[in-house]
Amino acid sequence: MPLTNKKSRIVVIGVGAVGSTTAYTLLLRERMDELVLIDANQGKAIGDALDMNHGLPFLGQSKVWAGTYEDCKDADIIIITAGASQREGESRIDLLKRNVAVFESITTEVLKYNTDGILIIASNPVDIMSYFTWKKSGWPVNRIIGSGTLLDSARFRYLIGEKLNIDSRSVHAHIIGEHGDSELPLWSMTNVAGSTINFTDEEKENLYLDTKNAAYQIIKAKGATFYGIALALDRICTAILHNEAAVLNVSTLLTDYHGVSDVFLGVPCVVDRNGVREVLPLDINELERTQLNQSAQKIKDIISSVSM
Ligand code: LAC
Repeated sequence: MPLTNKKSRIVVIGVGAVGSTTAYTLLLRERMDELVLIDANQGKAIGDALDMNHGLPFLGQSKVWAGTYEDCKDADIIIITAGASQREGESRIDLLKRNVAVFESITTEVLKYNTDGILIIASNPVDIMSYFTWKKSGWPVNRIIGSGTLLDSARFRYLIGEKLNIDSRSVHAHIIGEHGDSELPLWSMTNVAGSTINFTDEEKENLYLDTKNAAYQIIKAKGATFYGIALALDRICTAILHNEAAVLNVSTLLTDYHGVSDVFLGVPCVVDRNGVREVLPLDINELERTQLNQSAQKIKDIISSVSM
């Protein structure tokens, strides 16, 4: 639990598959004192809160309730998962127009009641939704965090670990850029215990494609993804609540970063109680720099094509 006497509070806005699973994950791991669920479908929020409360005798002292935007007032962290989710074969970018309208109303309400919390954005396309939220909120950029390529990097590490038969926690590998089809692997920085891994070009391409296409595969199989992203969001919350200064590949505003500026993308960031403390400079090669700029340009072109 955090290092203060104040009761820690996390608000989850949107209790669809991602929001509900994230809330349950946070509860199971006893991350906060108070967990508030907000959804346009109040019945779902009420039902989820009731269902989770009935498990508290097996857990601990967290309080869970279906709330309103007024409950954002004392929130340390507000996680926004609301919005349309990918249908089979749909890209994350395809969700943009539907989700901008949803975010317009949500951020207006949140800003009425909260002035010093940290906003974590999980709704897709997450880099664009994070940029939009930052612009609209006028908050310092450190307090607007997109889930970014944290889950992509975890998938990448898992797949490499499976191939090497090594615990994925011992695999150091990064996916950066868009949380989407233009994301890129940093093979130049991929290692296990500091030693580089000698995959063939074909092995590298297959590992990258399996990572990039993981969500499409899961959505085809079961209609949505929610376990991996819930654990990624839990990881971000823990870094904040415990003031960890952990390095996490979240989406943040880049400024003159390998030639990239004025766009949110997933890169290694130091995350602590104030949100994103700093972006880590990376020693990437020319190909990776080019791919990062291509990813940035794709997102910037889309942002300029949508009136926000
Ligand atoms: C995925 C969603 C979170 O990649 O975009 O599973």
